This record gives sequence, structure tokens and C-alpha cells, in this order.
Amino acid sequence: MAVRPVLKMGDPRLLETARPVEDFAAPGLRALLDDMCDTMRALNGAGLAAPQIGIGLQVVMFEVTRNPRYPQAEPVPFTVLVNPVLTPLSDETEEDWEGCLSVPGMRGRVPRFVHLCYQGLDADGNPLDRSVSGFHARVVQHEVDHLHGLLYPMRMKDLRQFGFADTLFPGQALQDD
Ligand code: NI
Repeated sequence: MAVRPVLKMGDPRLLETARPVEDFAAPGLRALLDDMCDTMRALNGAGLAAPQIGIGLQVVMFEVTRNPRYPQAEPVPFTVLVNPVLTPLSDETEEDWEGCLSVPGMRGRVPRFVHLCYQGLDADGNPLDRSVSGFHARVVQHEVDHLHGLLYPMRMKDLRQFGFADTLFPGQALQDD
């Protein structure tokens, strides 16, 4: 188990398309999940995708615990999602602020689907199928974008709403994802 360095925007590996996981028995997969979890928690991230630590596999995880500083952020249970498929459940979108461990110190307003279904496999290869809304749906869309070589600034409609977190939100410590 180890905290791994997170690649930053500008690294071409963040622009690649990740490959599906085919062998859940591979010892390397367990080690990858352990390292991702250690890294996400050590850096206080809301989520992490394998390409962010240089592994081009379709693996993401996310977790949002209740934080008194951000009462508006609903908790999201710790979830490992492998080979994910997202299906929007309506055309409705909304914009909100996002950050990313690969774009450290920055925040931007990103449009996302409000309601979606995500399907895939959990850490043991068992099927996962959830319908979620709001912040949970946002986090999933952000993480799965990493598997398609997309960073949140590429989703933004108005780059005037992009800036440094300590300037946009002085005095607040915000969570990256
Ligand atoms: Ni990210």
C-alpha cells in the first residue's frame, strides 16, 4: 500500500483512453485499488481514477464523507467502479464548482447531468447498478471522464468561471476530486 504521485494536467497520459479490466484475479489489481485508496484519502480527494496515477485501466473510486465545513455536499459511500457505463436519466444538467487532484489549486464551474444510472463492476467483479442524482452523479461523471482522457476544464462552457481556489473561496479548504 502506498500513496502514489498524481499526474498533473499537461501529462499526456491523462489524455489517453483507459482499457477495460479483464482479470479480477490479477494480484496487480488489488494492489492498484489499495494504492488508489491510500492516495485518494491522503490527498483528501473526493475521487480518483487509475489514469491519474499513470495506470491506463478503467478503474475509478470515490468517497465523500460528511464535512461540517461543506454541509451542502451530501455524503457519497466509498465506491470502487470498474469498467463503468453511464446513462443519463434525463436531459437536465446543472453547473457547479469542481476541483481535481490533477489540476491542483483550481476550481471551475462544470455542467453535468443531474440524474444518471451507473453500471459496472465492484472491486470483486460483482455487478454494480445505481441510479443517483446531484453531487453523487457529478462525482461519478468527473471520475469516469478521466477514463476517456477528459479533465473538467475541457467540459467548461465559460472559462471566466475558472480560477484559483484560494482566490475564489478565500479562507475555505476545499476537497479536490
Ligand atoms: Ni479529477
